[in-house]
Amino acid sequence: MTVPNAACKPSHKPPRVIISAMAAFQRIVILTGAGLSAESGLSTFRDKDGIWAKHRIEDVATPQAFARDPEAVLDFYNSRRGKARGVKPNAAHQALARLEAEFAGTVLTVTQNIDPLHERAGTKNLIHMHGEILQALCAHCGAREPWEKDLSLDLVCGACRQGGGMCPDVVWFGEMPYRMEEIIAALAACDLFLSIGTSGSVYPAASFVAQARGAGAHTVELNLEPSEGISMFAEAVHGKASQVVPAYVETLLNG
Ligand code: OAD
Repeated sequence: MTVPNAACKPSHKPPRVIISAMAAFQRIVILTGAGLSAESGLSTFRDKDGIWAKHRIEDVATPQAFARDPEAVLDFYNSRRGKARGVKPNAAHQALARLEAEFAGTVLTVTQNIDPLHERAGTKNLIHMHGEILQALCAHCGAREPWEKDLSLDLVCGACRQGGGMCPDVVWFGEMPYRMEEIIAALAACDLFLSIGTSGSVYPAASFVAQARGAGAHTVELNLEPSEGISMFAEAVHGKASQVVPAYVETLLNG
């Protein structure tokens, strides 16, 4: 954003008011990933000491893995639920909640993260496209309930009273992410798309930048390093989320 310094303008010209490009935005869609929560103490997936360096996706994060070895899958998510229970939002989550609260237009946050940090920071217009670790889903009847403890095969669903089907309410590889129709509609209508803390390696989230761009939106990546989809973005700021996100939000709100 450029705000000209009036003192530098030739005195014979009338003062001009430049409407900043930022002020023209009305509808923002924000996509977030594991990098946003890294500074809250949660592991990312594809960094060198990330979750996928320690576990194979096909062993813990597919419907087939759950059918083959449900205890191993429940253990994996029990461990992640244990870590998610106590974490606190960092400055980046807080800045995004502030953006939603103070921006004159609409802000939709779509997160790939299953942790509860956006809502703990105060974000309300939020889609957890890959599900929520602090929620259980009954594989028998589809009932959902808030869930903070470990899940095990001997649990009985509070709604249908059947046992053995209580899973974490998360999307596994090979499954369709949640609320895709709403997300696609929001991308088609947005004029600013921010992608924050994601490597851009998992679809359909990795294709959102192309959809937003196709709809004419300004596209911005805020990430520690260039993502796989970097060439699709009109603008990029690289650095730690706790630093670059609050600064970017401040610019959006106050120029
Ligand atoms: P990744 O681990 O693939 O990418 C995290 C990105 O965050 C990387 O590009 C890092 O450089 C960046 N990063 C790390 N620390 C950061 C920091 N402090 N500030 C800013 N950026 C930082 O995680 P995701 O892109 O979220 O899906 O992964 C997408 C999906 O793949 C996940 O939702 C999960 C996973 O497999 C499922 O399990 C279905």
